[in-house]
Amino acid sequence: MRCYLHTFFLCTVFTFLSLLYVFSQLASTLDGRDELSAGVIPGGRRSSHDSGEKPGSVSKEHGDEEAHTSHVAVVACGPRLEETLTMVKSAVLFSKKPVHFYIFAEDELHDSFRDAVTPSWSFCFKTNFTFTIYPITFPKENANEWKKLFKPCASQRLFLPLILKEVDSLLYVDTDILFLQPVEDIWALLSLFDSSQLAAMAPEHEEPRIGWYNRFARHPYYGKTGVNSGVMLMNMTRLREKYFKNDMTAVALKWEEMLMPLLQKYKLNITWGDQDLLNIIFHHNPESLYVFPCQWNYRPDHCMYGSNCAQAEREGVFILHGNRGVYHNDKQPAFQAVYKTIQKNLETSLLKPLEAALQSATHTYCGRAGPLLTKRLKESIRSVQQR
Ligand SMILES: *[C@@H]1O[C@H](CO)[C@@H](O)[C@H](O)[C@H]1NC(C)=O
Ligand SMILES: *[C@@H]1O[C@H](CO)[C@@H](O)[C@H](O)[C@H]1NC(C)=O
Ligand SMILES: *[C@@H]1O[C@H](CO)[C@@H](O)[C@H](O)[C@H]1NC(C)=O
Repeated sequence: MRCYLHTFFLCTVFTFLSLLYVFSQLASTLDGRDELSAGVIPGGRRSSHDSGEKPGSVSKEHGDEEAHTSHVAVVACGPRLEETLTMVKSAVLFSKKPVHFYIFAEDELHDSFRDAVTPSWSFCFKTNFTFTIYPITFPKENANEWKKLFKPCASQRLFLPLILKEVDSLLYVDTDILFLQPVEDIWALLSLFDSSQLAAMAPEHEEPRIGWYNRFARHPYYGKTGVNSGVMLMNMTRLREKYFKNDMTAVALKWEEMLMPLLQKYKLNITWGDQDLLNIIFHHNPESLYVFPCQWNYRPDHCMYGSNCAQAEREGVFILHGNRGVYHNDKQPAFQAVYKTIQKNLETSLLKPLEAALQSATHTYCGRAGPLLTKRLKESIRSVQQR
């Protein structure tokens, strides 16, 4: 079935109206809820919350489906709503297995998010997706300290294992991530972890000569060039159980015991907030980290001074990460082209406008990497159209 724009428009209008009704019904039941599970609406299929289950928990009837579900978390603050929606759209467009999203957002964004993500997406895109919206929260004991020390949203991701206590594993992504192939493909890396690995990230740099940590960091970091936390896969069951080696005490500490002392010790020396803390943690516990190659977290750094992500050259880019604000400025037109085309189009009509836009970016190094950006995307689109 091809998904025409007018169908999309019609079902958007229809579902918006149904949503209005659902919300008027939901509003009363949600009022008295625990702050951590404030807003829930069903996406393509019945949300697990409707039956009072915790997201990510396995129940008898949903057991099979749950086993195939990818769980994706994002923290959306300030003006990041549109970006977050485009990330969600890219995930929903190309995935063939169910995806559940955990959207952490400032309270004032909740309504706009709900209005924008409609079940019509899953109707048109043939993917089962559900989502839960959460407020930004910190553990009660030192909530104020974390809020004070970082911008309110910046360190939220460190607390996901503690907030989503019932969730076994989670893919955290920054809002400026775009999936160019199905989410279940990165989710599958969880099964490649050896018995001590509990998280997976890509290196911060491929090329030490332009690396940041190895040239400027005033704190320990992982490996040769550090790791980038924009795409972070976690087995949170293991993360919650593990005792971490550290340079604060002689005894190993649990995740929740370690964060505050770590921040106190390093707060004057860190530049990139929680990513630096993660680098310090995995510096001391390198056996716990699975490092995946750069095509799972492809950034302007991989092409802006010439191509240095060898895996992407061979296999194409799997996940695009437009950090440095490149989706919204003119510095990297190739990144902006991918963002704008996914934002505006449905899967069937994506490729032609994208290739045209990339053609006009070939005066930049990243523009010359255009074929790497579309290689996987083409396969994803083909496989979506076949089903
Ligand atoms: C969506 O979920 C339903 C059950 O909840 C299942 O029967 C159906 O096959 C799923 N569709 C896709 C495209 O995964
Ligand atoms: C912070 O940086 C300073 C200057 O490089 C260094 O002397 C100090 O040891 C660092 N602090 C920690 C906790 O590593
Ligand atoms: C995460 O780790 C736990 C404990 O080792 C294991 O039981 C679970 O299957 C793992 N989850 C995934 C998705 O691999």
